[in-house]
Amino acid sequence: MSGSMARPSPEQLLTLLKSRRVCRSFTEEPVSDDDLRMMTEAARWATSAGNRHIHKFLVVRDPAVIHNVRTVSPGMLTAPPALIVILTDLEAAARESLQLEHDHANWMDVGTAAMNMMNMAHALSLGSCPVTSFSRSGAAVMLDLPPHLIPEWLLIVGHPAPAPRPRRLGANAPKPVAARDLTWWEQPGRHEP
Ligand SMILES: Cc1cc2nc3c(=O)[nH]c(=O)nc-3n(C[C@H](O)[C@H](O)[C@H](O)COP(=O)(O)O)c2cc1C
Repeated sequence: MSGSMARPSPEQLLTLLKSRRVCRSFTEEPVSDDDLRMMTEAARWATSAGNRHIHKFLVVRDPAVIHNVRTVSPGMLTAPPALIVILTDLEAAARESLQLEHDHANWMDVGTAAMNMMNMAHALSLGSCPVTSFSRSGAAVMLDLPPHLIPEWLLIVGHPAPAPRPRRLGANAPKPVAARDLTWWEQPGRHEP
């Protein structure tokens, strides 16, 4: 990256990352082409194993199609105004001579693209939520996919509904997790100096 390139300060970036939360409740306002373009642009710039880019990003806004996908997606708790489906393109994988059953990098590339899109959605004041609890074969039918395109990850997207998520209190409150709880220095179990 060019040294003169404008970039967010570390504090600004961390603020963005820390303030993103999954959103499962949306207004009916449509998501604009420009916003969806920004999200797929962010996905394109996600780091990709071997720089292979074997995934495609399918933008879906037709409410009937989204409804149908939802019928095979128990993890999709709400019908969003937009959906971005991350697909593995088996033809692209074959061109790269990849044997996907032995290649975990495929999954990691799905995650890097998804995370970039979620952070971009947040920067655009949109809400998003991953959905991985869905039937691959069912979603492929609902999306009318050819056999070489495998749906791996659904990302629901929309303008967040104004009502805040109900906070869980007391024993049901989520246990806060700090980076320190997850990070060791030099040796497993050794916390930061
Ligand atoms: C791999 C993966 C799969 C997920 N699958 C679903 C899902 O099927 N349905 C859903 O509502 N949320 C799903 N989530 C969202 C998580 O529940 C959510 O990210 C987690 O509770 C942390 O919330 P946060 O992202 O707001 O910090 C998934 C998240 C990840 C990373």
